[in-house]
Amino acid sequence: MSYFKILGFEKEPFSTSPDPEFFYLSKEHEIALSNTLIELRLKRGLSVILGDIGTGKTSLSRKLIQELKQRDDFIFHMVLDPTFENDQQFLFSLAKNFEINLVKNNAALPSIADLREGLERFLFQKGVGEAKTVTIIVDEAQKLSEGSLEVLRVLLNYETNEFKLLQLVLLGQLELHSKVMNIPNFFDRISFKYTLNPLDFAEAKEMIEFRIAQAGYKAGMHLFLDDGIREIYQHAKGYPRQITMLCHKALKTLVLKNRFAVDAKLVRELADEEIKSGWHRRDPLLERSSINV
Ligand SMILES: Nc1ncnc2c1ncn2[C@@H]1O[C@H](COP(=O)(O)OP(=O)(O)O)[C@@H](O)[C@H]1O
Ligand SMILES: [Mg+2]
Repeated sequence: MSYFKILGFEKEPFSTSPDPEFFYLSKEHEIALSNTLIELRLKRGLSVILGDIGTGKTSLSRKLIQELKQRDDFIFHMVLDPTFENDQQFLFSLAKNFEINLVKNNAALPSIADLREGLERFLFQKGVGEAKTVTIIVDEAQKLSEGSLEVLRVLLNYETNEFKLLQLVLLGQLELHSKVMNIPNFFDRISFKYTLNPLDFAEAKEMIEFRIAQAGYKAGMHLFLDDGIREIYQHAKGYPRQITMLCHKALKTLVLKNRFAVDAKLVRELADEEIKSGWHRRDPLLERSSINV
């Protein structure tokens, strides 16, 4: 029997897969989501969401897709990892994903000009002919090369008098900021920009409680005591992924060691074990300041 069933859950409460069902709408996640949806509805073109590793960008993108799936006027494509050998490969992959028919004379890739033209025709047909909103969502967007950003910039130029024909949502780590800043033509086109920060304590607590409820916890006992949650928060520094992982470990420990509740002592033991085994996450800020001393 899985550990979570023993504890009285129907589903795994602290899996780290980006399941929208387990996505807690913190203040910042809600601002990012609702503003992105508004920009998409108004067809204003480009939204950029930044955030450190583990702040919930991929989870947010899944939630966004869940929302778009419910509407039949959206055609969207999600790029999970935008690493491409060259611009032609990138354009080809976009065209392929939108199932654009391109005339091909031989086995070689269509030319960049043909790919651009095919995409432009597609955007006009869908956007003007069929009143659809064509959207590309790029996760891990900090990996976009300068060439790929330029490809996207050109696509963003296709517009009618009233709206952009392509909607683009980029989600990426903080280094995406400087990349985009270096291309003023691109930066100027951003209609919504936002940075996700780690959660505050109250939200971290709510996130834990939310996930417990979503996993169908019915037993009446409090599995996480307040001091345990505070300790988790401090170790995780408010990062949702770290919180999720610590909670998972803490619940597993309850089962393995036959304990009843996650308190501060248990969380400290887990953190100590990580430090002893050399697997703890170093704090980059502390490290930097220790270099300066
Ligand atoms: N708002 C949230 N509510 C619940 N869990 C979250 C939330 N944000 C992140 N998580 C958890 O943290 C993990 C890491 O988040 P992820 O979206 O992969 O972060 P990022 O893409 O920014 O690195 C997710 O798989 C999920 O388990
Ligand atoms: Mg991610």
